[in-house]
Amino acid sequence: MYYNGPTTFLQLKLAWVLLGAAFASASASASAAVAQTLPGCEDRCGNISIPYPFGTTEGCYIQQHFKVACNDTDYHPPKLFLESSDTNVEITEILLSGELRISAPIGSDCFREGGVQYQDDIFETWITVPEFPISNTRNKFTAVGCDTYAVITGSLGRNYATGCLSLCDTIDSVINGSCSGIGCCQTSIPKGVKNYNITLSSYNNHTSVWGFNPCSYAFVAEETAYNFSSLDLKNLQGREKLPVVFDWAVGDQTCHKARQNPTSFACKDKNSNCTNFDNGPGYRCNCLEGYEGNPYIPNGCRDIDECTTSSPCNMTCQNLPGTYSCSCAVGYEGDGKKNGSGCSRIAVPNNKLPLITYIALGISIGISVLLLGGSWLYWGSKQRKIANLRETLFQQNGGIMLQELSKHEGSVQSAKIFTEEDLKKATNNFNENNVLGKGGQGIVYKGVLPDNTIVAIKKPRVADQSQSQIEQFINEVIILSQVNHRNVVKLLGCCLETKVPFLVYEFITNGTLYDHIHTACQRASSITWENRLRIAAETAAALSYLHSAASTPIIHRDVKTANILLDDNYVAKVSDFGSSRLTPIDQIQLATLVQGTHGYLDPESLQTSQLTEKSDVYSFGVVLVELLTGKEAISFDRCAAERNLAMYFILAMKEDRLFEIVDEQVKNEAKADQLKEFAILAKGCLRVKGEDRPTMKDVAMELEGMKMTEKHPWENDNKGSEETQYLLEDLLSDAYDGETSTRNSTIYDSITNPNISLCNGGR
Ligand SMILES: *[C@@H]1O[C@H](CO)[C@@H](O)[C@H](O)[C@H]1NC(C)=O
Ligand SMILES: *[C@@H]1O[C@H](CO)[C@@H](O)[C@H](O)[C@H]1NC(C)=O
Ligand SMILES: *[C@@H]1O[C@H](CO)[C@@H](O)[C@H](O)[C@H]1NC(C)=O
Ligand SMILES: *[C@@H]1O[C@H](CO)[C@@H](O)[C@H](O)[C@H]1NC(C)=O
Ligand SMILES: *[C@@H]1O[C@H](CO)[C@@H](O)[C@H](O)[C@H]1NC(C)=O
Ligand SMILES: *[C@@H]1O[C@H](CO)[C@@H](O)[C@H](O)[C@H]1NC(C)=O
Ligand SMILES: *[C@@H]1O[C@H](CO)[C@@H](O)[C@H](O)[C@H]1NC(C)=O
Ligand SMILES: *[C@@H]1O[C@H](CO)[C@@H](O)[C@H](O)[C@H]1NC(C)=O
Ligand SMILES: *[C@@H]1O[C@H](CO)[C@@H](O)[C@H](O)[C@H]1NC(C)=O
Repeated sequence: MYYNGPTTFLQLKLAWVLLGAAFASASASASAAVAQTLPGCEDRCGNISIPYPFGTTEGCYIQQHFKVACNDTDYHPPKLFLESSDTNVEITEILLSGELRISAPIGSDCFREGGVQYQDDIFETWITVPEFPISNTRNKFTAVGCDTYAVITGSLGRNYATGCLSLCDTIDSVINGSCSGIGCCQTSIPKGVKNYNITLSSYNNHTSVWGFNPCSYAFVAEETAYNFSSLDLKNLQGREKLPVVFDWAVGDQTCHKARQNPTSFACKDKNSNCTNFDNGPGYRCNCLEGYEGNPYIPNGCRDIDECTTSSPCNMTCQNLPGTYSCSCAVGYEGDGKKNGSGCSRIAVPNNKLPLITYIALGISIGISVLLLGGSWLYWGSKQRKIANLRETLFQQNGGIMLQELSKHEGSVQSAKIFTEEDLKKATNNFNENNVLGKGGQGIVYKGVLPDNTIVAIKKPRVADQSQSQIEQFINEVIILSQVNHRNVVKLLGCCLETKVPFLVYEFITNGTLYDHIHTACQRASSITWENRLRIAAETAAALSYLHSAASTPIIHRDVKTANILLDDNYVAKVSDFGSSRLTPIDQIQLATLVQGTHGYLDPESLQTSQLTEKSDVYSFGVVLVELLTGKEAISFDRCAAERNLAMYFILAMKEDRLFEIVDEQVKNEAKADQLKEFAILAKGCLRVKGEDRPTMKDVAMELEGMKMTEKHPWENDNKGSEETQYLLEDLLSDAYDGETSTRNSTIYDSITNPNISLCNGGR
């Protein structure tokens, strides 16, 4: 809004106000459209919403019996059916409060004049939903007729039989709205019932009441959906189906038990609570008070903006997570709540003050107004300068281009543009306490956005940038914001009003792989071999995906254990993708780059000063060795020739000392064959010539294969399959010409490391 050239001071102020309003409304509408399903799942069938734990396809529902099917070929509008039920149970609504509304048929038993029964009548009707009990509080069993008795029986979940009797001799004796035995009778449904079977009978085949009541009807229906009227005695006013409410709950344990296994516990949102199911085994999840949405998916519960939805305050309202606060203007008192004491003017004691007081008061007010006015003008011009600077930076940083692009490509919501103000607020003005880490490329802060999402905000090192580099950067931001890979840290957006664009990423909870491998205090809880293998496979998959995702491959440029983040389940998330584009690779800067990533840098790229996909493969090879040996990429505890982990490893391999350098824990957990295979793969990645290294795709596939055999060792026995054999031989034969690579790399290492010292000469 502030890019359209010179503006007057007043216009500018107005613009700020409008901008604020626009943001407020944008965030309000965003919270309204909360996802109810897992990503990629069908979320509605016609106008019926299908919230998780229900779903239509594998992976979209929580348990088999939550599978529903949308039939849009034979029905317009489409109908939703419960798959686990033997009869076609049609769902009309799924409520996250734990209820399911279905449309159930009505039983009827009709007669011709003189008591002849219609043969094709449904004087029996039944429904079976083996997994979900019928709500005992919301439904009633009802029979309508003046010569009617109806019996309901059930055998699933609970054995029961009950019924009711309704008689009358004239239509005038019935009472509208009252179902109590005259023309209509009603009884409750017991708890824990999962099926019913209704049978209708009559005493006199309706002969004496045929004139106004030729049929008997019986049904189970939601209590509020049916209200008896004398008109129903004729033909039930044409109704054929009525809604029945079923209860649903997840699991088969109590909350207390289920909570002990966090991975299977269904209440995924942190702002949710669990309640035990009272109509059978299992539990239900609810969003806490002040939140709404789907508690069964992470971040499904969103804060309710009470201020806009119910305006509960008399004067000023502030929305807070899970609640709100009301306040009164100066000169008013009270709690500010409309249904509380509201705001009332503070009563001014009506004492007579001497005239001089008023004069003094008048003068002092006058002076303060003047002072205020002056400082306001000064502040205003300063703000304008700041705004101008922001505008320039925004343009310089390609903001307009990015905005344009995002408009066209429909990726608006994926790449959000944050203002500097947003980020200041989120990080408490870039407070030191919020710093998550500092590195060669910049500082990473933890931040909390207004909607309570926790994010990591990266403030890059200041660097001069040419227009083309910015364009490249923008391009990559756009690509990355559209990348949705399980093992890549998601880029949520960026801020362009600053000298160097700030990047906003999803927040990953469990630290870096580096911390887990190397930090001494965590050695005790060090990651298992199975996890190491999985992390390697996941990282390789992510890199391979990005190498082949776009027409021009996205190169990471800075693969290292410190850039592999782990979540609570040790799932790897590769971070800092492409952000190294910000640091141009010319000769001068190469030095700093090498410093930052020393130990991981592709020796070939030092010669060519060009990073390719194969540079990532090399760096990944170092990561593999780190996982295998538990040693750091560069360590001054080793002698000069072995200081660089890649060298150290290759030498050890050459001298057949692999098992001496493998991490203790890994040695205990992994099988020798597998270790060897892993080491050979790492060695392949570390070849000096880029073209000799395998592609990331090969590496990912190889690791995936190893992961499978680790998981299912029994399948391994007679599977010395030709393929694996071939691959191994291939790699082994290649390993022989590793000699040259060793020499070359050693040379590189001594060139780039001036502090080289003799063996055992170091610490
Ligand atoms: C779906 O649409 C039908 C009419 O087309 C309407 O009767 C029903 O209430 C709607 N259901 C929902 C959940 O909106
Ligand atoms: C839809 O329903 C019709 C009739 O019940 C059935 O024949 C058909 O197979 C169903 N189609 C799908 C896709 O389930
Ligand atoms: C049922 O109908 C009666 C009369 O027709 C009316 O007075 C009453 O309010 C209705 N009850 C409900 C719950 O709709
Ligand atoms: C329903 O109940 C009647 C009588 O109790 C029985 O004859 C009939 O087979 C039952 N139908 C079903 C589907 O269970
Ligand atoms: C009612 O009808 C049934 C068969 O339609 C017949 O067997 C029975 O006798 C009739 N009962 C009376 C009381 O008419
Ligand atoms: C019940 O209400 C209907 C209209 O809703 C009316 O036509 C009928 O006469 C009423 N019956 C009695 C018994 O009040
Ligand atoms: C969650 O619900 C339980 C009762 O089911 C209650 O005791 C507990 O206080 C609730 N927790 C929160 C955070 O609301
Ligand atoms: C005011 O409203 C809130 C929520 O709407 C309610 O919880 C509270 O009980 C109400 N207080 C009074 C005094 O009515
Ligand atoms: C709300 O504030 C208005 C003045 O803004 C006042 O007239 C009214 O009485 C207040 N209502 C309550 C319930 O306090």
